[in-house]
Amino acid sequence: MKNALITGITGQDGSYLSELLLSKGYNVYGIMRRKSVVDFGNVEHIKDKINFIYADMTDIVSLVNAMKISKADEVYNLAAQSFVATSWEQPVATAEINALGVTNLLEAIKITNPNARFYQASTSEMFGLVQEIPQCETTPFYPRSPYGVAKLYGHWITKNYRESYNLYACSGILFNHESERRGKEFVTRKITDAAARIKFGIQDCLELGNMDSKRDWGHSKDYVNAMWLMLQQETPDDYVIATNETRTVREFVEIAFKYTGIDLEWKGKEIDEIGIDKSTGKTIVKVNPKFFRPAEVDILLGNPQKAEKILKWKREISFDEMVKRMVENDLTLVEQEVRISELNN
Ligand code: NAP
Ligand code: GDD
Repeated sequence: MKNALITGITGQDGSYLSELLLSKGYNVYGIMRRKSVVDFGNVEHIKDKINFIYADMTDIVSLVNAMKISKADEVYNLAAQSFVATSWEQPVATAEINALGVTNLLEAIKITNPNARFYQASTSEMFGLVQEIPQCETTPFYPRSPYGVAKLYGHWITKNYRESYNLYACSGILFNHESERRGKEFVTRKITDAAARIKFGIQDCLELGNMDSKRDWGHSKDYVNAMWLMLQQETPDDYVIATNETRTVREFVEIAFKYTGIDLEWKGKEIDEIGIDKSTGKTIVKVNPKFFRPAEVDILLGNPQKAEKILKWKREISFDEMVKRMVENDLTLVEQEVRISELNN
C-alpha cells in the first residue's frame, strides 16, 4: 500500500485528490494549518479516513516532520495562497507560501526521502500576458500578478531540483478548474452562488469586474486524475492540463442563469453594462470597478495534447455539465438556507 502526502488537503483539489487516492487504496496524509476553530474544509465528509498533520508551507521543520510521519511515496503540493486578487494585497505572504514554500517542501523531501515522487501545482497564470494562443508546455511565460510570479518560481525550482538532484518531480500547468467545492471568491462560484440567491429572492444583484476576460475552464475532478497520472510515469515531466475551449466570464454568467431558469439580456457597454432578467425587467448583473485587477490575464486557452498522448489523460466533464452541477448544488444549498431561516422566524 502506498502512502501519499497532500498539502492543501482542505482545498478544492485536495478534496477530490484525497477521494481519488483513497479509492485507489492509498494511505492518505494531509497537512493542515492550525486555525482558531478546527475546520476540515472540503474534506469534512472523509476526515475519518485521512491522517492529518499540522504543518505550514512557510515552516520547513513542520514539513520535514510531515515527511517523516507520513513516509510518503508520493507528495502532492497543492497548498497555496490561491486567490490571484489577494496576491496584490499580500504579495509577500503569497511569495512565502507559493514560491519559497515549494523549496521548503523539496528540501524536506531531499533530506528525508529523495525517492518520493513530487507533484507541483503550477498554473496557467504563469502565461499571463500570453505570448501565443493556445498555450502549451513550450509557450514562454509572462506572469501578470504577484501570484503568477510566485508560482513561476515554484515551477522552476521544481524543474531545478529534478535536474540538480535527480528527484522525480513534475509540474502540472493546470488551467482553471472549478467545481461545487470551489471557494466563493472565485468568479465561477461567485456567479453560481449569486444566481441561486437571486432565483430564491435573497440577493438582488451580482456585481462583477471584467466580464470580457476569457478562461479555459474544466472540472477539478478530471484535473486531479492528471496529477496522479503524472506521478505514475517512467520519467518525470511537466504537462499542460486544459480543455482547449475558452469562454468569457459573460458567457459563464449567461449559462449559469440559464440553469436557474432565468433568461438574461445585456444592455449598455463597459462599466455601464447590465444584465436584465427578461421576465421581470430587473437589473440582476452590474459591473463594479472594485473587482477589476491592477493587471489582467485577458485570455487563457490551453493545449493538452502532450498529456492526452503520454498520460492518456482525458477530461470527462464538459463545460456545460460543470456549470449545471455547480448551479444545481448552489440551488440546493440556498434552498436549505432559506428553509432554515423560515423555521427560525
Ligand atoms: P484552494 O481551494 O484555495 O486550496 C488551497 C489550500 O492551500 C487550502 O487547503 C489551504 O489551507 C492551503 N494553504 C494555504 N496556505 C497554506 C500554508 N501556508 N500552509 C499550508 N497550507 C496552506 O485551491 P485549489 O483550487 O484547490 O488549488 C490547489 C492548488 O492548485 C493551488 O496551489 C493553486 O494555486 C493551484 N492551481 C489551481 C487552479 C484552479 O483553477 N483551481 C489552477 C492552477 C493551479 P486553508 O484551508 O488553511 O486555507
Ligand atoms: N474573482 C473574481 N471576482 N473574478 C472576476 C470577477 C469577480 O467579481 N469579475 C470578473 N472576474 C474575472 C477576473 O478578473 C479573471 O479575469 C477571471 O474572472 C477569473 O478570475 P478567478 O475566478 O478569480 O480566477 P483566476 O483565473 O484569477 O485564477 C484561478 O485560476 C488560476 C489558473 O489560471 C485560480 O484558481 C488560481 O489559483 C489559478 O492558478
